[in-house]
Amino acid sequence: MSLPPFANEPILELRRAGPRQALLDALAAVDARLPLRVPVLVGSEARAGDALTSTDPGDPERVVAHAAAATAADVDAALDAAARGFARWRAVPAAERAAALLRAAAWLRDRRTEVAALEVRECAKPWPEADADVCEAIDFLEYYARGAIALEEGRPLLQVPGEHNELRYVPRGVTAVIAPWNFPVAIPMGMTAAALAAGNAAVLKPAEQSPACGHVVVQALRAGGVPDEAVALLPGDGSAGAALARDPRVQTIAFTGSAPVGLEILRTAADTREGQRHLKRVVAELGGKNCVLVDSDADLDEAVPGIVHSAFDYAGQKCSAAARVLVHEAIADALIERLSGAVEALETGQAGTFGTDVPPVIEREAQERVDRYAQRAAADGRIVARGERPPGGWFCAPVVAADLDPGSPVLREEIFGPVLAVDRVRDMDAAVAAVQSLPFALTGGLYARNPRTVEAVAAQLPVGNLYVNRSTTGAMVGRQPFGGNRLSGTGTKAGGPDYLLSFVEPRVITHNT
Ligand code: SER
Repeated sequence: MSLPPFANEPILELRRAGPRQALLDALAAVDARLPLRVPVLVGSEARAGDALTSTDPGDPERVVAHAAAATAADVDAALDAAARGFARWRAVPAAERAAALLRAAAWLRDRRTEVAALEVRECAKPWPEADADVCEAIDFLEYYARGAIALEEGRPLLQVPGEHNELRYVPRGVTAVIAPWNFPVAIPMGMTAAALAAGNAAVLKPAEQSPACGHVVVQALRAGGVPDEAVALLPGDGSAGAALARDPRVQTIAFTGSAPVGLEILRTAADTREGQRHLKRVVAELGGKNCVLVDSDADLDEAVPGIVHSAFDYAGQKCSAAARVLVHEAIADALIERLSGAVEALETGQAGTFGTDVPPVIEREAQERVDRYAQRAAADGRIVARGERPPGGWFCAPVVAADLDPGSPVLREEIFGPVLAVDRVRDMDAAVAAVQSLPFALTGGLYARNPRTVEAVAAQLPVGNLYVNRSTTGAMVGRQPFGGNRLSGTGTKAGGPDYLLSFVEPRVITHNT
């Protein structure tokens, strides 16, 4: 099977009236179907229920979906089915597995406005980001389909006369996918598609905040031809994810979420249960405390909008979002002044309104957490800009704080909301030292013009993804393989050439001839 080279799915041109109207029509169509029903899907069985409810963060009275919540019996049945599904799916040639993923991509492409509209409602993703998320899900399918074919070729080994050596990759078994709500289709799709591409069965536990988006992932894969038993949907709360992580039938756990939950999964996975004959592997993408370094020669016309997008798009609810700026003291006052002006001009509003810059955060608990950190920032430093906070949904005013006490938790803990802290530094060495002192190392940004500074920072910053003279979010599949180091994750790179290796075991066959 020969496929055209991978290319990213083009995003919609949202300045044009046509795509805008198509999205608004899709939103009206989604609204007319609310509340959606999300079942537990195990093999060919669908168990409806309403133990879990997702609501619109911009209008919490609006119920988006009633979902079944997976019970211990559902987890058990899903893992039994997955064992059967694995036996079948692993025997499918890579080219056919790839073809199924490509058909899933086509299914999603045909429904992209509708799926984007669902993200607007269930997760308050603003239009450009909802559209980009659907594109990223399509990209993962297309990219890992190609990866599956490449992986089947194994790797070349040294051959000597009379001996034939072969390195092939075999799937590991059942993968539990435990997914977040902030990229509600792309991230669960990426982890699930990778597991399936490599020949594993997958059991997806979407975030409890976004069961309907999780349902779309499994619908797309099944519509593409992945057998029902090879991919299950277990909506539910953390207990379903914990049960999956504990179960000895699970070989691999792919998790994206917070560092405390990721650490708990790593501990659980390390505990080998009665009858378990394998070591579990955990592929974890965790939190960040991402810093943008701004040198004295930076172009503030680039830096200010770049920082604003990095920190406040999707209300800062991205693991890649900027949380701190470390600015050279020579230009700190100028940057703070311009940044403040830009942040005070941001539109906080509904995700479905074109022109919204900062949507509501996902839920009340998140709003309360952001408020606590904003108050702490005011106590530990000074608030230099505060945007609007409309009434109604789980809105938070975007906040910029400066000159915080170096011991402030605002400078170290992940807030996952629209709060940005600005510190002055003597030079870029001091900025690098500040980043080095953090436990997280996911993304980093640098605005500088001197190539030596760029190279010195690139050589020393421990982050998984460094962005120079651009924003720190929006990694593209195949272009910016994404994932962090230190407490930010296991160092695997989603959307990169090595990602599928996390879902396979290498096997070497030496044959004396
Ligand atoms: N991949 C996303 C980004 O780059 C984060 O998960 O923003």
